[in-house]
Amino acid sequence: MPPLPFTLFANPNAGTPGTVVLPEGGFRRAWAEITAWPGYAPTPLRTLADSHGLAVIRLKDESARFGLGSFKALGGAYAVAQLVRAELARHPGSGPETITVTCATDGNHGRAVAWGAQRQGCRCVIFVHETVSQGRADAIAAYGAEVRRVPGTYDDAVRIASETAAAEGWHVVSDTSWPGYTQVPADVMQGYRVMVAEVLAQWEGAPPSHVFVQAGVGGLAAAVSVHLRLNLRPAPRLIVVEPDHAACLLASAELGERTAIGGELDTLMAGLACGEPSLLAWQELSRAAAAFMAIPDEAAVAAMRLLAAEGIVAGESATAGLAALLRALGDPAACETLALGPDSRVLLFSTEGATDPVLYRSLVE
Ligand SMILES: Cc1ncc(COP(=O)(O)O)c(C=O)c1O
Repeated sequence: MPPLPFTLFANPNAGTPGTVVLPEGGFRRAWAEITAWPGYAPTPLRTLADSHGLAVIRLKDESARFGLGSFKALGGAYAVAQLVRAELARHPGSGPETITVTCATDGNHGRAVAWGAQRQGCRCVIFVHETVSQGRADAIAAYGAEVRRVPGTYDDAVRIASETAAAEGWHVVSDTSWPGYTQVPADVMQGYRVMVAEVLAQWEGAPPSHVFVQAGVGGLAAAVSVHLRLNLRPAPRLIVVEPDHAACLLASAELGERTAIGGELDTLMAGLACGEPSLLAWQELSRAAAAFMAIPDEAAVAAMRLLAAEGIVAGESATAGLAALLRALGDPAACETLALGPDSRVLLFSTEGATDPVLYRSLVE
């Protein structure tokens, strides 16, 4: 791959103690429920043929998760199930058809919520912003949800979904959290931990030394961080990777506090086009991430092609971790900062398959 620019910020607060944002009881409930769903099967953990001078690179391939094409199936659908159960317990005698769930999405989370709502028999309205592809909107509607397109970015859609829900008495099932709204997103993140627990059962040999994980609002990265910190000693170095035009966690780390970034959030990595970190994610990552990186779209596309050559179908938001690893490996100073070398054992998450098949083909073929 040709050299491409990237940004690397070593976290000065890495290792600061604090409370665990995702308690173990919540994870045990998520594991028990999700692994009992019809069609549940662990997704493959693949070892890359080319280890790029490292001991091993392994990649959790989420392209076939529950037939939805991304790891998000674990989070949104589980949170809908929890919410419906709690609502029916609060209103005995009423049925799930009286409940409406809603969220904003760049595609994958909305698909997971729509699937979850269909499974629970409740109503579902999903808000998509203007640049979400029609293919992704159609895939959500295919699960019986009403899809509403709104102007602006993902963050604007989050606000509109929450205002509409307040006015209509609907329930927001968001994958991002903010002050006063943490229970549902915590359930979403506990669902993601199922994927990480599978990795630990599948991993052979010495445990991972590094994890490069992509972030939108940071929920995925924080779930990975919590699960690995609680289960591996020492915990692997965790590097959070974002698109350079939507690097809100990097900006927050540089500032030393959770902050939103403005602008168009213009990136091909649609699932990562978020301008505001999730509160819960920030509480975990601000003290547990070793470093934050930002990469350009071209690096992610090059990594998509590299994986395609190994027979792995990875969508635009799936390869930022690999792309960042390869950028770092080409830069001796970055390798030193991250302690990356021939003994390193790297874990990556290929978080989606070709969730927009037309776009995938145009980028890879
Ligand atoms: C495929 C994919 N990977 C990664 C992410 C990032 O997850 P989070 O927003 O929790 O950081 C998303 C979010 O939508 C996604 O769709």
